[in-house]
Parts: sequence; C-alpha cells; structure tokens
Amino acid sequence: MGSMPQAYSARFSIAPMMDWTDRRCRAFHRLLTRHARLYTEMVTADAVVFGARERLIGFDDAQHPIALQLGGSDPARLAEAARIGADFGYDEINLNCGCPSDRVRSGRFGACLMRAPHLVAECVAAMAAQVEVPVTVKCRIGVDEQEPRQALFAFATAVRAAGARALIVHARKAWLEGLSPKDNRAIPPLDYLLVYELKAAHPDWPIVLNGGLGDLEAAKAHLAHVDGVMFGRAAYQNPELLLDVDPEIFNERAPFADSFAALEGFMPVIARGLQRGERLHDYTRHLHGLFAGRPGARGYRRILASEAVRRGAALDVIRAAAAEVRREPALAAE
Ligand SMILES: Cc1cc2nc3c(=O)[nH]c(=O)nc-3n(C[C@H](O)[C@H](O)[C@H](O)COP(=O)(O)O)c2cc1C
Repeated sequence: MGSMPQAYSARFSIAPMMDWTDRRCRAFHRLLTRHARLYTEMVTADAVVFGARERLIGFDDAQHPIALQLGGSDPARLAEAARIGADFGYDEINLNCGCPSDRVRSGRFGACLMRAPHLVAECVAAMAAQVEVPVTVKCRIGVDEQEPRQALFAFATAVRAAGARALIVHARKAWLEGLSPKDNRAIPPLDYLLVYELKAAHPDWPIVLNGGLGDLEAAKAHLAHVDGVMFGRAAYQNPELLLDVDPEIFNERAPFADSFAALEGFMPVIARGLQRGERLHDYTRHLHGLFAGRPGARGYRRILASEAVRRGAALDVIRAAAAEVRREPALAAE
C-alpha cells in the first residue's frame, strides 16, 4: 500500500457491516463518494494474526480513507492485529464494542464489552501503543439492564483516557438476551439526545453518531451537535444517496453525474475481478439497492438476481439490468 495515512475526519462514514462491506462493496461506495470514511467488516484479532491476511484484510489503495474494524478482547492479540492493520496501510483501527451476535458473545467481544470498560481501556492502550494511526472504538449506549447515561459516559471516559481518538456511538442499547442481532438493530429505541449530551461533555473529542440515519438532511441536522455521522443500512440498501455526500457534506463535486455513470465507472473494477476468476455475482450482490425506489428498479434487481449468478456471467448482464431503469421514464412519456 505505502500511501501516507490521511488526516482523521469523522464527518461522514459508512458503517462496518459483516458480509456487506467487503472490499468489492467498498470499491463501489468509494466511487460514489471520495470523502466518506469506509470501514471493513469486523475481523477478529485472531483471524488477522493467524489467518490468510491478504484475503481477509487486503484492500485497494483507492479505498482511503479506510478503517479496519477488529473484534476481540485480548489486549496483546489486539495490539498485534492493530500493528498488522497499520502495516497494511489502514488509516484507522477500530475496536468493535457494539455487536450483539451470539458468536461474538461467546468470544467475549462486541457489545458485552460495554460491561468491561477497564478491559476495553487496556485493549485500546495496547493497540494505541503499537500504531500511529488513530485507534477508535464503536459502541452502544449500553446493554441489557445498564442505565445508558451511566454506562455510556463511564465507558467513554475510560476509553478516552486510554487513548481512543474518537468514539462512534450506535445510539441504542444492545439486548444480549432474547433478541436476534437483526431485532437488536431495530427494537430498543434510539436515543440521539444522549449522544449529543456525551458530545457536550467532550467538546474536544470526536463523537460520531450512528443508528437509524436515512437521509442527508437528517445527517446535516445531527452534524450541528456531533462531529460525524455513520450510515449503515441506508448506505447499503440505497447507495444512490452516497452520490450526494461529497456535495452536501464536503462541499465538493460528486464523482459522477448520476448512478448510471457510477455504474459504468464500476465496470472496469468488475472486469479486473472477473479476470482474476471472481464471479459477477460477488460484485452485483452489492448493487441490488442501486436505483431503489425508481421506476424499473424491480426489473433491474430481477435481472441481476437471476442472470449474474450464472457461470460465466459478464458485464452485459449489468448493462441489461440498468437498461430496465432507463427505459421506464421513456415509456411513461409515451
Ligand atoms: C448486515 C449487518 C452487519 C453488521 N456488522 C457489523 C460489524 O461487523 N461491526 C459493527 O460494529 N457493526 C455491525 N453492524 C452494525 C452497523 O455497523 C450499525 O451500527 C447498525 O446497522 C446501525 O446503523 P444503521 O441504522 O445506519 O444501519 C452490522 C449491521 C448490519 C445491518
């Protein structure tokens, strides 16, 4: 990789999402916005240290600024994984303290770490001692019966003192008992005001708000109270909104005039992947949300879903799918 780590800017980011924000998905998101900070899927510290590194955490230089999200709770192991991540060229190393899934709980990481701020602080300190890029933490406002204000504020104080350079707060509690990870992203209510209060308590420490954000107008309103916003599902399910991020949030021109042009711009990336033996579907599965809500979007998705999975499927499938969307307004005008 070798490029200089970029300055930390928390203003707009796309959340770490397992199975979604893989390197192909991020390549597409990066085409839609030059400035959004991208996050990998969570990778466990053990996997980084002992696994197939290039496959797990390799990325294209074009994806900066990009953060590696780690899962784990062993300070020494996390420190080693952080150093490996920094050597790969990541601009930030983030520790996951927000994920409620069972697999993650058994390993004692993710949201259950909200109960162990001192252990998290040890992890952060060990990681920060190994790398020059920012070490940050992503957390919830609490878990289970915790009183959110107390839990969140104590957690924030502990990780900040340990050297965390920013805190990303998914503004709802995680319930570790009796809720699926999916329900956990929708059921406990969001509490944005608590995150604003946390920011007021830490005026010179970056606080990023995450959870339930769906459009850039709302994002801009939050940015009056916090340093940054992080979009998860909305960015993935409706990537077209990312085309407005550079003009609306960073006062710069959008990289492409529209989604059709962005899709065309993605073709060479996909073509290189196909040449390496990857399948079209590996890419198109991340494109289903494009054109969401537009006339013809259903036909677009249908073609991608049925044709892109075929052996030997090539770029013409994407053009045929996109043509479904283009045709609609013309038909309507007849
Ligand atoms: C499919 C999926 C996978 C996720 N994987 C992770 C993960 O690996 N690490 C993490 O910190 N959060 C993960 N999350 C949570 C998101 O990062 C984010 O905090 C959550 O979806 C709330 O933001 P949203 O309402 O904008 O989607 C995941 C969410 C989804 C939908």
